Amino acid sequence: MSTQTAPVRRITAPQIAKMKGGRPIVSLTSYHAHTAAIVDEHADFILVGDSLGMVMHGMESTVGVSLDLMIMHGQAVVRGTRRALVVVDLPFGSYEENPGVAFRNAARVMKETGCGAVKLEGGRRMAETIRFLTERGIPVMAHIGLTPQSWNVMGGFRTQGRDEDTWHLHEEDARAVTEAGAFAVVLEGMVEPLAARITPQIAIPTIGIGASASCDGQILVLEDMLGLNPHPPKFVKVYGNLGDGIADAVRRYADDVKSRAFPSEDQLYR
Ligand code: KIV
Repeated sequence: MSTQTAPVRRITAPQIAKMKGGRPIVSLTSYHAHTAAIVDEHADFILVGDSLGMVMHGMESTVGVSLDLMIMHGQAVVRGTRRALVVVDLPFGSYEENPGVAFRNAARVMKETGCGAVKLEGGRRMAETIRFLTERGIPVMAHIGLTPQSWNVMGGFRTQGRDEDTWHLHEEDARAVTEAGAFAVVLEGMVEPLAARITPQIAIPTIGIGASASCDGQILVLEDMLGLNPHPPKFVKVYGNLGDGIADAVRRYADDVKSRAFPSEDQLYR
């Protein structure tokens, strides 16, 4: 058996930016080394999203996620991968105050995880910060439309752009983050005609989640598409049935334990 492992050769943020208008960009979230290793074979980038607060830690929203938690999961995903660009979310409260605070925290994320980029939420209001970070060596993915960190202000998760009169605000957000130097922008929870208007207007790739196939790429929360979330968002196509698979395996294990049907020691240590 060879002891050599494949070299780490990751896709970079500029390479993702160049995919604009070409083959659709494939991405998923991951928070965990073993699942990240599986996703790595197929994804152009992997997002260590702050949705991990809800998915991994049972929080009600992403607001309670800390920088330390993002760094811990970011390290796990970087360790488990060799190919995809790893993007780590900046959590609520770690970047909004001013560009200097954002730089300090984003630099810490990059140094301590080894990721290739960070993501932050907000359009026009974050443009100055995006420029500050990118000019200082930190590739930034922007995130507009439905921005879950603003959950308390929005009063819940609502699809954006249902009222056509608001479209110009989202379009201005998309242009502002592009001009500020973001290498890509997530469009979350947005009506299809709005996503279809924004995508050709800007020079960077749009990555849709609940924003239709008219984006330059797509992202889903891994646990949602694997069937591990009993109540996935309506727009999610579920590709796996892992929830039932795990329940069945745990049930069979419990039956084996109760009936002492475990392999004998000589079978185990053969
Ligand atoms: O935190 C997350 O998982 C995200 C995606 C939904 C884009 O930001």
